[in-house]
Amino acid sequence: MNTAPAERSVPRITTTALAAMKAAGEPIVMITAYDAPAARLVEAAGVDVILIGDSLGMTVLGYDSTLPVTMDDMLRATSAVSRATSRVLVVADMPFMSYQASAEDALRNAGRFLAEGGAHAVKLEGGAAVAELVGLMTDAGIPVMGHVGLTPQSVNVFGGYKLQGRDTDSAVRLVEDCLALEAAGALAVVLELVPAELAALISEELTIPTIGIGAGAGCDGQVQVFHDILGLGTFTPKHAKRYAEVGSTITKVVAAYAADVRSVAFPGEAQFSHLDAEVVAELERLLPLTDGED
Ligand code: KIV
Repeated sequence: MNTAPAERSVPRITTTALAAMKAAGEPIVMITAYDAPAARLVEAAGVDVILIGDSLGMTVLGYDSTLPVTMDDMLRATSAVSRATSRVLVVADMPFMSYQASAEDALRNAGRFLAEGGAHAVKLEGGAAVAELVGLMTDAGIPVMGHVGLTPQSVNVFGGYKLQGRDTDSAVRLVEDCLALEAAGALAVVLELVPAELAALISEELTIPTIGIGAGAGCDGQVQVFHDILGLGTFTPKHAKRYAEVGSTITKVVAAYAADVRSVAFPGEAQFSHLDAEVVAELERLLPLTDGED
């Protein structure tokens, strides 16, 4: 049965709805997902925004950073999430070097996330340095979410995944970055690994929503990585709360399956089908078909 029309009757969360949520003091819930089953589950849980983060490089593809993630990786994941959802706002991360080389490349790549991936907005890393690009994309009809603080694609510039904006100069630069993104038309800005006091000040200063990760409770919303909160990864960053141990549950379930196969407890009668008795008898009469020939 196709349930799509009923699902579609629940209104889609729009980019402008996020600003209204900030104005109403309603916290925005964002989480990553990289495939259709996870997207279905998190939408059913009532989140507002799904981010197809380039964290997929680590969570799904087994890389040790986001840098090797390609446009193809991100587009495939984005379209899987879009196909599986009907209510959430779908935001796709632009991977490393998909927007840094030229504005033309950046616009073309960003457009692909909406046209081919079914996303409603893209996210890119950087502050004042990418503000002009954010303006060009917004003017072209591509809503953009900014991302400042610890921007993982610049990990080699930062020398590690470290808290940003700790002294007055870098804190002021972060505020300026956020204001530049807002002026350029960004729909919201992710604050990653920023001290809580600074994140709260930025959130008060901006009219667009801030979405924090490791940035304290004073942001207008929060984002978490799906694998971190479910306990699916090998390590939990300080900014993540592990709500479950789904990874060890999966290992236990698969071990039970393996034990059943080895003890021939699986498959049971419920998991297969039988031939009619006459067909069995006929086959037994016909076999072996080779009739002793070489
Ligand atoms: O790639 C990602 O998952 C992100 C979030 C952590 C904000 O950028």
